[in-house]
Amino acid sequence: MSCKFRLLLENAEQLVVICRKEEEYLLQDGMQHLEVLEKASLVVGKDGFIKAIGSTEAIRSQFSYGEFETVIDCSGKCVLPGFIDAHTHPVWAGDRVHEFAMKLAGATYMDIHQAGGGINFTVEHTEDASEELLFNSFKQRLQRMLRAGTTLVECKSGYGLKLESELKMLRVIERAQREMEIGISSTYCGAHSVPKGKTAKEATDDIIEHHLPALKRLALNGEIHVDNIDVFCEKGVFDLESTKRILLAGKAIGLHLNFHGDELNPMKSAELGAELGALAVSHLEEISDEGISALAAAKCSAVLLPTTAYILRLKQPRARDMLRAGVIVSLGSDFNPNAYCFSMPMVMHLACVNMKMSLNEALAAATINAAYSLGRSHTHGSLEVGKQGDVVIINAPRWEHVIYQFGGHQELIQYVAIKGKIV
Ligand code: NIG
Ligand code: FE
Repeated sequence: MSCKFRLLLENAEQLVVICRKEEEYLLQDGMQHLEVLEKASLVVGKDGFIKAIGSTEAIRSQFSYGEFETVIDCSGKCVLPGFIDAHTHPVWAGDRVHEFAMKLAGATYMDIHQAGGGINFTVEHTEDASEELLFNSFKQRLQRMLRAGTTLVECKSGYGLKLESELKMLRVIERAQREMEIGISSTYCGAHSVPKGKTAKEATDDIIEHHLPALKRLALNGEIHVDNIDVFCEKGVFDLESTKRILLAGKAIGLHLNFHGDELNPMKSAELGAELGALAVSHLEEISDEGISALAAAKCSAVLLPTTAYILRLKQPRARDMLRAGVIVSLGSDFNPNAYCFSMPMVMHLACVNMKMSLNEALAAATINAAYSLGRSHTHGSLEVGKQGDVVIINAPRWEHVIYQFGGHQELIQYVAIKGKIV
């Protein structure tokens, strides 16, 4: 007899729902009241979506074990929504371990960038790498993210810069989307650095005149589907005016705006994001008070990246001020050759300790709010009937262990399921 349902998670000590379905994101006050059920069960259907959630008793009375392909006894364990990593650069060749030593010795990110290292170093290695090699290393990285509980991840291009190399990266992301279970939101980030021999103005024109029309064509042919457009809006990279031109051209072909801003210098990037209706602006270590108010009013998410501030010894993003002002705060790992971190539990830990977020705030920022920043909060980011059955099961009696313990998450995270399939 074929089973009616895919997965039953039974009798969890705590089942972290996050919030009710109608809520697309959580603000500071809501985050204090995350919904957590005790001694609870969850049912995922064969279509991968959640069919029921309730007390162990209630679910036992409605379903029988024979109806499930898989049953997991979650006594002594907790069930959480899969983590959503709102910002990564995971497709590249050639790591930058040598630059880590330089940074420890005092070199800044921009010192290294201007000397031809940093992003430019990775661009050269990525250009030389075959698509197969890029795919294989990307796949391994995604598998490591999955093991750390990430079930949906934003993945940027941006180490190609030239059209052909950017398309190579986007094809690699597209292939992973087709072949792997992990959810991916794909971002074109051709304006990540100004290519050698070009001015920012020339690079901007090239993106608008050649790259974006090519993306539009490939999307229409069903070859490559891109969700978001990103620009590194920074002094010495793309200024506010070029950023605006690129983002508007991206918006015109239907991409969500989600870009790097106010990281190393105050650029008024947050204000620009709000003005253009961006879904999110990332980094924001140097955001202004006006920028904070603008993000809150525009419901534009601030994607904070605690690994970057940590590794580059930057000032911490003003998470508390943003939360107080009603900004939708999300979190990302920023995985890239500068910030080599796969783990959202580690990111939440850093957000709590260094950015002074509460445990509830960090979890909401790494689930429902991160989903919002990617335009996916109707299907992802909380455990609700009708949403996708993406869950993390930890071997601990309280959910907070996933942030409290730092390092060693492979032992703590016992199962990760996507659409109810254990991966
Ligand atoms: O988000 N700031 C720009 N982009 C990346 C770093 C990319 C790199 O250094 O390779 C970031 O931190
Ligand atoms: Fe980044």
